[in-house]
Amino acid sequence: MNVHTFQLGGNAAEVYEAQKVSAIFRPLAESILRQVRVHPDDRILDVACGTGIVLRTIAARIPEFTRLAGVDLNAGMLEVARKLSTEANIECEWHQGDVAALPFDPGEFSLCFCQQGLQYFPDKPAALTSIRRVLPPGGRLVLSVWSEISPLFAAMGEALKTHVGDEAAARAVAPFAFRDGQAIEELLESAGFLINKALKITINRIMEPAEVSFPREMAGSPNADEVAKLNPEILANIVTDMKNSLTKYARAEGFVIPQTSHLYLCTKSRA
Ligand SMILES: C[S@@+](CC[C@H](N)C(=O)[O-])C[C@H]1O[C@@H](n2cnc3c(N)ncnc32)[C@H](O)[C@@H]1O
Repeated sequence: MNVHTFQLGGNAAEVYEAQKVSAIFRPLAESILRQVRVHPDDRILDVACGTGIVLRTIAARIPEFTRLAGVDLNAGMLEVARKLSTEANIECEWHQGDVAALPFDPGEFSLCFCQQGLQYFPDKPAALTSIRRVLPPGGRLVLSVWSEISPLFAAMGEALKTHVGDEAAARAVAPFAFRDGQAIEELLESAGFLINKALKITINRIMEPAEVSFPREMAGSPNADEVAKLNPEILANIVTDMKNSLTKYARAEGFVIPQTSHLYLCTKSRA
């Protein structure tokens, strides 16, 4: 497991799809797509595509496309993406690779999405330069990155720090480690993107009771291995600590916890 690149092992990609995509990444994709004009003649690339939710959401809105392609480092994520697009009859290419070395020609795509990927790229300028290369001048980039630590993961990080250790705690909040809007804007501009619109989007995660949803959340994360090894008493203590930190978000049927993202709508500058 790798803290920095959101690598999942075992059946974690399936758990990711079943739990996290429905709870957060699908609503986020839907919300982002309400801000973006997508045309049937767009050639669309989704980098760090995971299990492919962005492309599936696009395909559900516009049935015919010139080209849909996804790239991700993780073979397990791509396997789930391929299976789901085949089942849904969506014609889509899935490529395993590093965003910093995209296997495409210059200007091959007109519109690129990167949903919650930038924070994991070890060389962010190289990643953005690589994305820029595969767009034509005026080509669009739609980029989202969490803008603050979600209360759910702050609580999880604290509980893991107490009961498991610093490394597990750091892994829990790694998705939020790169969230400074000014730093992201500087990165985009110095990679040759013009920011046409910057906004924030909040998704309210609806969670089942803590005893069910909190262990499941950890089982679909890069902490899956550590959590699987815990004895039931320690796991119960983690859940109790998280519940105590999250009382503000408790509802009769579980929890409703906000998670907020930056969204940047950019174009490749001509210079
Ligand atoms: C939190 S997931 C987001 C996945 C997807 N965009 C979504 O919204 O469900 C982050 C993804 O980034 C991928 N990733 C991390 N570093 C990468 C890199 N250097 N190149 C390509 N993909 C990368 C991971 O494998 C993982 O699938």
